[in-house]
Amino acid sequence: MAIRQPIVTVAGHVDHGKTSILDCFRGSCVQEGEAGGITQKISFTKFPISQVMKSCPLVKKGGVKLEIPGFLFIDTPGHAAFTNLRKRGGSLADLAVLVVSIKEGVKPQTAEVLQILKFNKTPFVVALNKVDTISGWQKKGSIKESIESQAMNVKQEFEEALLTFQGVLSEHGFDSDLFYEVNDFTKKIAIVPCSASSKEGISELLFVLCGLSQKFLKERLKLSDDAKGVVLEVKKEKGIDNIECILYDGSLKEGDEIAISSFEGEPIVSKVRALEEIEPLSFKYKSVRKAQAATGLKLHLKNKEGVLSGMPFRKVENNLEDIKKEFKKEVSGAIELDNEGIIVKADSLGSLEALLTLLKQENIKVVKAGIGPIGKSDVVSAKTNLDINVLNAVIVGFNVYADTSEGLNVSGVKIFEGDVVYKIIEDLQEWRNKKQEEIEREKMLGLATICKLEILSQYLFRNSNPAIFGVRVAGGKVKVGINLIDEDGEKVARVKALQIDKESVNSAEEGSELAVSLPGINFERRLRDKKFLYGDISAKQFKDFKKNKELLSFVELKVLQEITEIKRKKDEGWGA
Ligand code: GTP
Ligand code: MG
Repeated sequence: MAIRQPIVTVAGHVDHGKTSILDCFRGSCVQEGEAGGITQKISFTKFPISQVMKSCPLVKKGGVKLEIPGFLFIDTPGHAAFTNLRKRGGSLADLAVLVVSIKEGVKPQTAEVLQILKFNKTPFVVALNKVDTISGWQKKGSIKESIESQAMNVKQEFEEALLTFQGVLSEHGFDSDLFYEVNDFTKKIAIVPCSASSKEGISELLFVLCGLSQKFLKERLKLSDDAKGVVLEVKKEKGIDNIECILYDGSLKEGDEIAISSFEGEPIVSKVRALEEIEPLSFKYKSVRKAQAATGLKLHLKNKEGVLSGMPFRKVENNLEDIKKEFKKEVSGAIELDNEGIIVKADSLGSLEALLTLLKQENIKVVKAGIGPIGKSDVVSAKTNLDINVLNAVIVGFNVYADTSEGLNVSGVKIFEGDVVYKIIEDLQEWRNKKQEEIEREKMLGLATICKLEILSQYLFRNSNPAIFGVRVAGGKVKVGINLIDEDGEKVARVKALQIDKESVNSAEEGSELAVSLPGINFERRLRDKKFLYGDISAKQFKDFKKNKELLSFVELKVLQEITEIKRKKDEGWGA
């Protein structure tokens, strides 16, 4: 039975050297040609076995007989795109190379990739790159010889960095060792120190990849008759709609009919008009009649309505019903929603899945998830949450943004957008914690509120029945319904209404100037010689405030102190 090439995803933190290592494999210089030296899209390289033999003398020397026809390497521009490539239910990557700069160690995206590898149970090898940046490093023959023959201090620096890195790996649940110390590759992660600059360790890296493929993947790499793949990108080129995809099993030819899953798991059926295949060791495509997995393809389809990146596809051969069931399982399996929670949107099923996984780990519930920009219906859902749980009146957009053309009114709704998933989640958590504190504070305060009002007697709108005059909130917050006392602790009145710029409000924050309406008093007689008013509080409320001091601002604490003094002038033991 034919064996396909393993799909090897190269992933890791930005700038740690993923593209450079692949350049070494390819013997090309893509990295230098990239805009800003940064990978901005997923690319794949077909790496034929002949090239493996050439780049990896170890394989020849070791007399290893390779059965795989080569590798299909996938270069990723960081985490978002990597998750894009994940196959439903498992991972598209048969193997992965985690690239880590020895100088920087585990960074946020490294940690994220580790999580994803663990989640998908993808076997991987670590390329501990940039060893040449250790000062004093001398290149010798093999990387093993290099390591062993470094000067004492250089070796020490290398070993310290290695140990630190291994420590972090073990925190993530991975046992690891230098590749030449590993006996059992099922138990330990192999670390290959290397340098894409000096090219040391590169052929050893390939060697380990060959070994891992031979050892673990034979069953998985058997080609079946079913053509299966996943859409990477939907784009328009020279007026033609192109679907860039990876075919990871079976073969596909011109005229075949394929079904691509919609977001709802419904098949979108279309005929393949033409196909182009990626050429070995290059990024160029060439028209072909037929292509076999694993390979990168561009498909020209008759119908691409509703096709989204990240979606699985299958060849249709009188099996549409089975495909339908499979899609439903794959797509709905990926999206598990809660009865209540926030709203999330992403640019592809892969990134949506990754986002949902990470949110789940953070115990953040999701009530609605979708692909595409943030639109009206998302805002409506978030607004519904305003009445249920304010903490869920949130929309998260991962690689997607609010659709400005829809003229969205998002008042009250909090939107988090971005292309770095851990940053989005961090911001969301921070916001939620703050909001939660606010809510608890409100609860604690109830109707009681710490409040100091400065009387602006030049703004007397009405003297009595009710008295209406201007005040400035000097500290805390004023609310309709609270009882006011004067500087001597004498009761004044209950706040009947508040108005800012002729608009009624229920409350006003520190610093606001507004009109207050107090029934039952005559301003001239009762308040003409007064400067300040305070919100009255009971001894019990005072104790509550004292207990939750950390929730009060500096100004509120000061006002609380003033109120205590006023109260104690009348009753020495008040609130003690
Ligand atoms: P992104 O695609 O943006 O995530 O980065 P990348 O991981 O593909 O890194 P890339 O290959 O673009 O390398 C980043 C920078 O590090 C470039 O300037 C490389 O020349 C440099 N670099 C890569 N590998 C090595 C190495 O082994 N040694 C040294 N000294 N520099 C390296
Ligand atoms: Mg790159």
